[in-house]
Amino acid sequence: MLSAKSNRSRLVVVSNRLPGMKAVGGEERLRPIGGLATAVEAALSQRESGGVWIGWSGKITSGNDRSGIKEIAAKPIRLLGLDLTENDVAAYYNGFCNKALWPILHGFPGLATLSRSQLDVYRSVNRFFASEIMSQLNEGDLVWIHDYHLFYLGHELRKLGWKGKIGFFLHVPFPSMESLEILPDYRELLSLMSAFDLVGFQTKIYRDNYARACELSLGSQLKGNILVGGESKQIADVFPVGIDVDKFLPSDGDRASGKGRITLGTPFQNLDIVLGVDRLDYTKGLPERTIAFETLLKTHPKIKRAVTMIQVCSPSRTKVSEYVEQKKRMDSLVGRINGELSEHDWEPIRYLYRTYSQEELIDFYRYSKVGLVTPLRDGMNLVAKEFVAAQYPDDPGVLTLSKFAGAAEQMTEAILVNPYIPEDTADGIALALEMPKGERIERHQALLKKVQDYSVQRWTNEFVSALISG
Ligand code: G6P
Repeated sequence: MLSAKSNRSRLVVVSNRLPGMKAVGGEERLRPIGGLATAVEAALSQRESGGVWIGWSGKITSGNDRSGIKEIAAKPIRLLGLDLTENDVAAYYNGFCNKALWPILHGFPGLATLSRSQLDVYRSVNRFFASEIMSQLNEGDLVWIHDYHLFYLGHELRKLGWKGKIGFFLHVPFPSMESLEILPDYRELLSLMSAFDLVGFQTKIYRDNYARACELSLGSQLKGNILVGGESKQIADVFPVGIDVDKFLPSDGDRASGKGRITLGTPFQNLDIVLGVDRLDYTKGLPERTIAFETLLKTHPKIKRAVTMIQVCSPSRTKVSEYVEQKKRMDSLVGRINGELSEHDWEPIRYLYRTYSQEELIDFYRYSKVGLVTPLRDGMNLVAKEFVAAQYPDDPGVLTLSKFAGAAEQMTEAILVNPYIPEDTADGIALALEMPKGERIERHQALLKKVQDYSVQRWTNEFVSALISG
């Protein structure tokens, strides 16, 4: 558990992405996008001594100059934002982060575009973050940096003289050496990462990949959870990210009141819903999942008219060509399948290309008999955990989960499938749809216990404690 001392230090969180803001009933609320922002919001909300969250404001300056740190919100969490230039957004965010690091870290080297000039801008943005953050730091602060956009930030802060603790958490996978070595200057990247006192990963496999890469490139050695190399010592450990479980658990009155924000009308009556909720990203295996659902309908004629799939896709990285392609692919796939298989009073797939609030998603989770979470590769996947937490324990839906999501390392009572094989996923859905209630309850109890045990509160507490004591 978190010691009294650790909870007194101010936490300075840094990530590229900050949550958006939304006014609800005269009050400003955060609107996180993606797993990182959801987890960090929950983590910071529980800090008694408060904290500050610094990141890209999402704004682009009109000229060639970046603009320094500004307060975006004071409540419920203090948010400070930096504005980047158009060139930064093109070469750093859309470029090196999303066209080089993202595919390489997820094991899709064929989709990577590598460029030394984009790497230069990436470094320069990390340097800019460091100089702006230095002006905000006080002695005793704990700096906690998140994700692949800011691999060099620890080193840049050290160059500017920061002597305090710096932790880094990677929300996405860390790949094996064969994939990593495709990146330009990957050895330097590993060596500069030694500026972090603590490096955290979602799973043991990702931590071990990192340790092995450091061993091969820098001659370091992992002893327990300590990576010893040359003069430096770093903790490299596993901290599976979780959710704020209480926000998702049904209350006694929930079902009785029947008051959801989303009401599914007549077209869905008497249908079993198979649900997917994802950012529209090629790592999420959306076309593969859609084809698997088509396979299910074609191979299980009895199931066909009794089931429908709702696929929520939130728009993401819409300026990156691979994402534009993925959207086109989904549009045409869903159009074709609905055209071929729909009947006048039934449609196989309801495809919703938009972002829903957490409260609305809870309604979707509860209406669904099957939660379909089948990424081709994913750091963790919080939708899997949210789906389980939101179920009614006496009549829960079933989670069908990809073996290649970080969540699968913990959530072994889900139906685990290989998302690359359509028949595998189709069988996984059929098994979930046909599962007797007793087994559904048993699996759900086991999964819920794990989701509760590894909450976002535990994730923060364990990471911060390790950072302080390391
Ligand atoms: C993943 C990444 C986050 C990122 C999020 C949304 O969860 O791990 O770092 O913030 O996707 O992506 P975006 O590019 O919109 O920030």
